[in-house]
Amino acid sequence: MNTARIVGEGKPDAATEGGLNLKPSARRPSSALLEERPVSPTAGQTTVDDPIFACRDVNVFYGEKQAIKNVSVDVGRKQVLAMIGPSGCGKSTFLRCLNRMNDTIPGACVTGTILLDGQDIHAKHQDAVQLRARVGMVFQKPNPFPKSIYDNVAYGPRAHGLARNSGALDEIVCTSLQRAGLWEEVKDRLHRTGTGLSGGQQQRLCIARTIAVQPEVILMDEPCSALDPIATARIEDLIDELRQRYAIVIVTHSMQQAARVSQRTAYFHLGDLIEVGETDRVFTNPRHKLTEDYITGRFG
Ligand SMILES: Nc1ncnc2c1ncn2[C@@H]1O[C@H](COP(=O)(O)OP(=O)(O)O)[C@@H](O)[C@H]1O
Ligand SMILES: [Mg+2]
Repeated sequence: MNTARIVGEGKPDAATEGGLNLKPSARRPSSALLEERPVSPTAGQTTVDDPIFACRDVNVFYGEKQAIKNVSVDVGRKQVLAMIGPSGCGKSTFLRCLNRMNDTIPGACVTGTILLDGQDIHAKHQDAVQLRARVGMVFQKPNPFPKSIYDNVAYGPRAHGLARNSGALDEIVCTSLQRAGLWEEVKDRLHRTGTGLSGGQQQRLCIARTIAVQPEVILMDEPCSALDPIATARIEDLIDELRQRYAIVIVTHSMQQAARVSQRTAYFHLGDLIEVGETDRVFTNPRHKLTEDYITGRFG
């Protein structure tokens, strides 16, 4: 979506109203007026070529309360989309739309269209468990199962019947731990409990568990907020490696982290997607006043 469309969108065309024939310049609201407008449409580039996710007019309600308002955005393949914005603006809610985790919240209602690789994730035949294997999720607090390191990673492949035999399962566990950057640290203690690892190792174990079912997208909701700076740096490096294979959508409260790990950034405010675009552009040259206020620390 370009700026020209944003300017005119949603407003009745003055030229066709009441027979007025205003000059084009008079028909457009000034950029100042545009900036004051709190709601959609989103500034910047909401679409990408060949998206893995295409979300259109997504709304989320918790009972009467609307938490996400008409959000349309694409997620690109093999790149990281960071979602930023003040606490309570709807980042986690929107993230949960992408693998239908809001289905599990009583009273939550999602409307709009979400296509994963062109397929409607809300289609009748779409199974939510299968969807969550394709679109894995890593949470704020590492949540390994109270099982061995091996069994944590093997859990998904067993549940989905991905391994023909025990040798194939060993292979999946090893590869997943390698890709999650944890193999060297745990290869001699695969049968010890996953909850005995450090916080950063547990988070990488959760990433290995997600990778083990061969997802197409990994959703991460503030995956480093419970970690120290060294463990955080380790996860950020890992995210950069993972995007060679997967699309990643990460919620972060840290603008520095968004700038370090993502190629595109989306800024949410009170349930609206205010702006989205190339991360460098959003941080150096935000188009919307609300984005600018947030990234310069005037708000949030
Ligand atoms: N399970 C829920 N029930 C009711 N309201 C919720 C629920 N989860 C989130 N909300 C509300 O929806 C809004 C967005 O929340 P959330 O997506 O968690 O924001 P963020 O992740 O950006 O901090 C907030 O006002 C929050 O209070
Ligand atoms: Mg959140």
